[in-house]
Amino acid sequence: MKEAFERLQQIKSEAVKGGGEKRIEAQHAKGKLTARERIEMLLDKGSFKEMGMLVKHRSKNFGLDKQVFYGDGVVTGYGNIHGRLVYVFAQDFTVLGGSLAEAHAEKICKVMDLAMKVGAPVIGLNDSGGARIQEGVVSLGGYADIFYRNTQASGVIPQISAIMGPCAGGAVYSPALTDFIMMVEGTSYMFVTGPNVVKTVTHEEVTSEDLGGASVHSSKSGVSHFSYPHEVACIDGLRRLLTYVPQNCEEDAPSIPYNSEGNETRPKLDGIIPESANQPYDIREVIEEVTDSESFFEVHKDFAENIVVGFARLAGKSIGIVANQPAFLAGVLDIKASQKGARFVRFCDSFNIPLLVFEDVPGFLPGTDQEWNAIITNGAKLLYAFSEATVPRITVITRKAYGGAYDVMNSKHIGADLNFAWPTAEIAVMGSKGAAEIIFRKEISEAENPAAKLAEKDQEYADLFANPYRAAARGYVDDIIMPSQTREVLIQAFDSLKTKVVNLPKKKHGNIPL
Ligand code: HXC
Repeated sequence: MKEAFERLQQIKSEAVKGGGEKRIEAQHAKGKLTARERIEMLLDKGSFKEMGMLVKHRSKNFGLDKQVFYGDGVVTGYGNIHGRLVYVFAQDFTVLGGSLAEAHAEKICKVMDLAMKVGAPVIGLNDSGGARIQEGVVSLGGYADIFYRNTQASGVIPQISAIMGPCAGGAVYSPALTDFIMMVEGTSYMFVTGPNVVKTVTHEEVTSEDLGGASVHSSKSGVSHFSYPHEVACIDGLRRLLTYVPQNCEEDAPSIPYNSEGNETRPKLDGIIPESANQPYDIREVIEEVTDSESFFEVHKDFAENIVVGFARLAGKSIGIVANQPAFLAGVLDIKASQKGARFVRFCDSFNIPLLVFEDVPGFLPGTDQEWNAIITNGAKLLYAFSEATVPRITVITRKAYGGAYDVMNSKHIGADLNFAWPTAEIAVMGSKGAAEIIFRKEISEAENPAAKLAEKDQEYADLFANPYRAAARGYVDDIIMPSQTREVLIQAFDSLKTKVVNLPKKKHGNIPL
């Protein structure tokens, strides 16, 4: 009996060493934690329960029979974050470079299957040299088994990927199928083909970092939603993100107790909109004043900065925010902003997170670049995402709501529940100067003083339309409110919508313009 117990102890103590001391040292020397250290930091203390610690690969190819490690390069199991169950897998770079093959993939699939059955999020910590070259096609099969599960789980349970080392080749597609990707600056990268292949094919000389590092994917491509200076910050971000999302699509996000203390007026908001309609202001100031203190958690911060999206809490409840950003490109909607907004709206709608929109948008960005790269199809994504969303939806128009962008930004016409405008709102087909130049072109060109005539007609159009009263008269906005009242109004409005039920027409699934 004693021997049997000792044997178990001995096997497990060998298993937790992964690829051995030397490789652990090498991992640390690169500024990276090991898979087990990451899991330890991610989950509530002592909550991790490992599964498949003793799994081994079955391959004999190319000397693999002499390189057999317990766990096969991935640590899998379950535990808690803030007391809530999550499933996790962390690739162990110290074992065969964290490379993925048959047994490794089976372990990942097993936790994904359980997470689906139980209804709990899956978190993947990726750090891998990709397909295990010695095992050949079974590695490819293993990836595809994971991709399939990612897709089946999409919209059912939250899936989050943190990239904490290399992630190359087809391996990038599992994270890409999940809801959020986080990257670590300097030590993680993602690309379909690495610098060497790029050089051969396109003759470009580029480093891994410039091709697919955290900064590139967080700002240029938008592949990554969050970028962190080091792994500890990334793990903190992961834990924080989970506080805003529910366990699965059948549940609501957790809320935290809220004491109103009676005063929800925010006087600072009355002074935020500049005197001139052409002057920028930072929409984040509005978001931060309206939502619970320090609750705003921005997503895709450095990508398509003309639109701001993120989670926040209002009176303790989780909401998703989509806001035009007048401080960047005047808040115009372009291809990237539409993609960013649409993806976030769909995540929130999948997981029962109510949507709050702040609108200050001069329209869609004109130009050949935008047209040739399909602003039509991409703008339609945002329109589609809002139109199909059934969660409670509220819009606050702070200033400009021009043209097609007015319709797209969660207008009443596409299913928003409650729409408010500040007295500074301008709800019109276009800005008054542009409108005057078109409809009074002849009159202006024939005038003795064309500039004065343009100014006169500009004013005439502005008096008629550069305000929220026409829209209010039609019921396109439900009320015009003082900015300082916004928080109070929204708390009550979301509360009134909490039992909202909408049934979409029966269909297999829609065909969002991809
Ligand atoms: C088997 C691998 C491996 C792999 C790394 N290792 N990648 N073993 N299959 N894919 C092993 C190394 O041999 C080494 O073993 C150990 O892991 C650590 O690797 P190093 O090269 O020493 O580490 P480092 O210098 O940090 O470089 C990391 C790396 C490099 C950049 C990831 O290892 C690399 O380029 N690996 C190959 C990447 C690749 O081409 N993968 C296949 C992509 S195709 P020892 O025993 O020496 O410590 C693909 C298709 C997927 O993934 C398709 C899905 C649809």
